[in-house]
Amino acid sequence: MNKKYRKTIIAGNWKMNLLPSDVKPYTDELRQLAGKVRHCEVVVCTPFVMLPQAVKAFRDSRISVGAQNVSDKDSGAFTGEVSASQLRDLGVKYVIVGHSERRAYYGETDEIVCAKVKAVLNAGLYPIICVGETSAQREQGVTDEVVSMQVKLALSGVPAEKVRHIVIAYEPIWAIGTGKTATPEDAADVCTKIRAIIRALYGARTARAVTIQYGGSMNPKNAYDLLAMHDIDGGLIGGASLKPADFAAIIDAANQ
Ligand code: PGA
Repeated sequence: MNKKYRKTIIAGNWKMNLLPSDVKPYTDELRQLAGKVRHCEVVVCTPFVMLPQAVKAFRDSRISVGAQNVSDKDSGAFTGEVSASQLRDLGVKYVIVGHSERRAYYGETDEIVCAKVKAVLNAGLYPIICVGETSAQREQGVTDEVVSMQVKLALSGVPAEKVRHIVIAYEPIWAIGTGKTATPEDAADVCTKIRAIIRALYGARTARAVTIQYGGSMNPKNAYDLLAMHDIDGGLIGGASLKPADFAAIIDAANQ
């Protein structure tokens, strides 16, 4: 699916799964299966401790490596944190920011998400900013308001020339890890509205260049229909990215 003005990006989010010793077999198998990555960019987001190995294993391939989190600070006395410039130096390209699990379990507010987005952009990396509503919010009919607020707050103070480097992942929280997927129409409806917000903030040229992914129980069976929607430019995939064969099948769907 060749979307004229923007990249389709298929990103796997391993979350806190797999072991360092799994990296080589995984990357060998994925490199073989996803040999012909054509119309999309592929990213594998591993835990911090596996990043050096993953970067090495995907060198000279069309697969990039991403982190799942980053510090909002540039450097200094912040024990246990990892900075965006450290990730860049390692060869990491993307960073997931504001995943709903970080917002829910680690107190990540919209302000922290915004500071992390800026840290990632300042280091020359690409943030994948996650937004999405809970099932209660969807039932209350406030999905658009929630998502709009998250997008606007994540981007507040981000200059126009940097916005082309961001990726937004629309991930309805009720669809993450539950096996319940948004219908292609519902998912695309929110993605279209996210693009309209970017258009209102930064203009039409920038808005059409921004990649907007869908995430939430995407799998080899539903990927094609989701990715065929005009405003869905890829996927952020958790569970189905843990098996190279499933992840490669989703990459195939994006290649069509
Ligand atoms: P899932 O996770 O594909 O397992 O639903 C998606 C995500 O959390 O990014």
